[in-house]
Amino acid sequence: MTVLDFMIKTEKSNAAAKSGGQTSTPPAPAPADKPLRLILLGAPGVGKGTQAEFFSQKLGLYHFSTGDFFRAAKKLTPEQRTAGMNEAMTYMTKGLLVPDTTVLAIVRENAGKLNCPQGFLLDGFPRTVAQAGALEELLAREKLPLTAVVNYELPMQEIVDRLSGRRTCAGCKAVYHLVTRPPLKKDVCDHCGGALYQREDDKPESIRVRMNAYQQSTMPLIQFYQKRGLLVPIQADKTPAEIFERTLAGLKAAEAAKERKTKK
Ligand code: AP5
Repeated sequence: MTVLDFMIKTEKSNAAAKSGGQTSTPPAPAPADKPLRLILLGAPGVGKGTQAEFFSQKLGLYHFSTGDFFRAAKKLTPEQRTAGMNEAMTYMTKGLLVPDTTVLAIVRENAGKLNCPQGFLLDGFPRTVAQAGALEELLAREKLPLTAVVNYELPMQEIVDRLSGRRTCAGCKAVYHLVTRPPLKKDVCDHCGGALYQREDDKPESIRVRMNAYQQSTMPLIQFYQKRGLLVPIQADKTPAEIFERTLAGLKAAEAAKERKTKK
């Protein structure tokens, strides 16, 4: 059984349990015979981090978010921060992309973790063609082929609504939304009791700059991965749980299509 089959089976049995009034089964360790190695693509705010949470909680994939990494630098003292971290923070606050050299240095530092037996999930990286090229070389060197690149799609106005209502836990980084995914207790994280805050780059001026950066630098990656036969487009317009199911189904269909092609 592949990791993907395992997930689809678990989701189905959880749905069946829920419709029968029972609670979901707790996540079991997933098999690691065929790791899932995914990139989550899509505009800022489309829901990549939310889906990443589903994947890593249910399967234990190594979740690497360059944005989370840079935000964590904020908590360090000025003496603990490297020059690269300081530079990254200046760009992030304005909504601009951090320069490729800084991003790639951090990815290389963490490259060992990509060997996770269950696989990995890259969220917010790569974001430029130069980053995608560097990642391709790194993965070829480490013999870690990508399974797929999931591209989440949503109209711009809905994306802006998602970003404006987002609240993030200062402790465990869990993501909420004031309207669509509110915490049980106002401003308090359901998971760890941490305080929820609004990200600085979720203010209207930064959102505009981020969308521009996405359109100019990241959208070309859609074609980049389409050419490599890795792109799996997913409409991101339902609830997070429904989108997760859609993603699993999309990945399964892509896997089946690849197998058919290899058999020809
Ligand atoms: P990063 O942290 O990567 O942010 P991003 O790509 O802009 O993505 P977001 O985290 O804003 O959104 P998301 O798609 O994860 O959505 P989420 O799940 O939170 O990067 C931040 C900055 O770091 C960049 O601007 C840049 O400066 C720098 N940086 C990072 N990586 C870089 C790189 N590789 N190169 C250069 N610079 C880099 O969801 C959003 C909201 O919607 C939440 O409130 C959520 O609850 C809600 N929501 C999610 N799904 C649904 C749903 N299905 N229905 C309703 N609401 C939903």
